[in-house]
Amino acid sequence: MKFRVTIEETLAKAVEVEANTQDDAEYIVRQLYRNEEIILSGDEYVCTSYRVAPRIPYYKSPNRDFTLLQGDCVETLSRFQFGFDMVFADPPYFLSGGGISYQSGHVVCVDKGEWDKPKTPEEMDEFNYRWIKACRDHMKPDATIWISGTYHNIFSVQQQLIKLGFKILNVITWAKTNPPPNISCRYFTYSTEFIIWARKSLKVPHYYNYDLMRHLNGDKQMTDVWRLPAIAKWEKSCGKHPTQKPLALLARIILASTKPGAWIIDPFSGSGTTGIAASLLGRRYLGLEIEKEYLHMSRARREELESSATRHDYLHRLEKAGVVPMQDDLFALKAPADRVWEEVDDSYGVPWL
Ligand SMILES: C[S@@+](CC[C@H](N)C(=O)[O-])C[C@H]1O[C@@H](n2cnc3c(N)ncnc32)[C@H](O)[C@@H]1O
Repeated sequence: MKFRVTIEETLAKAVEVEANTQDDAEYIVRQLYRNEEIILSGDEYVCTSYRVAPRIPYYKSPNRDFTLLQGDCVETLSRFQFGFDMVFADPPYFLSGGGISYQSGHVVCVDKGEWDKPKTPEEMDEFNYRWIKACRDHMKPDATIWISGTYHNIFSVQQQLIKLGFKILNVITWAKTNPPPNISCRYFTYSTEFIIWARKSLKVPHYYNYDLMRHLNGDKQMTDVWRLPAIAKWEKSCGKHPTQKPLALLARIILASTKPGAWIIDPFSGSGTTGIAASLLGRRYLGLEIEKEYLHMSRARREELESSATRHDYLHRLEKAGVVPMQDDLFALKAPADRVWEEVDDSYGVPWL
């Protein structure tokens, strides 16, 4: 087993500046350092101590099926080696350029956050290449990746997948059955998102639960157009994430492409929807997220599932939506406390458990 551990040492340099007070001096030095007018070089360093950078999970569920790590996904992924069975990613679409929409009778700004600010085409390609590559390095040979988007980012994503040697399996069109109206009345109403499904290797076969998808589609082959509603109110019981995906969408993705017990990673975990669907369906989850607020929300959502009444309620809603089968003996119906995953799983070498 191989684990990557980062050792941090301290560089120190004393400088003298003219100032009225110690506080002013510190302010001036900080500015000089920020402007790179003071540079700490390896020659001058005085190492008095070092530390091994910890990566303690932000949260780990009691049965170890749901773990959250805080940090930039590319940087966090560079810290460990582990092969996942499936990746779901809902990356920034780079839509937050000050646009407006209509919600509950009000005109609202649709900006999501700093992380979603528009980028140039070159910057977007570079960003997508870096995180997709980081995920690819953590996929088992037969693993698959699902990446969502709109026309703003999805063509860049497709290009990077090809560059990195993925085989594209499908492009799902998620047709929202209840899209918000277009307030300008100068375009067709936006009602779709796309989800590219690709496998890591051109040659290694992937897993597709054909029979279940067919069964759920009234014994007809399921097509690549999925008519599912946008997020419902009951899914926001722990707060609002501006781009939260519906559980039904993630449940279908997980059931179509993984077996029970599979390890799933979401590098842009947000409110943890992928993990909640994974947990409901008996899969294991690692979510990476930079914002504390969303980690907090994800944790609250996972804690809700400790109540078997809530778990059954959510599964029942997914059954009614037709995305999970109506079976009492479904693996997923067991309460989380019934199924405690092993502390250290040698075949996976999971460093964060
Ligand atoms: C589109 S949202 C994902 C929403 C998620 N699918 C859900 O259902 O809640 C993208 C998320 O990625 C996070 N994010 C943005 N850049 C990131 C990065 N470099 N590493 C990790 N997380 C990042 C944002 O804070 C945001 O919560």
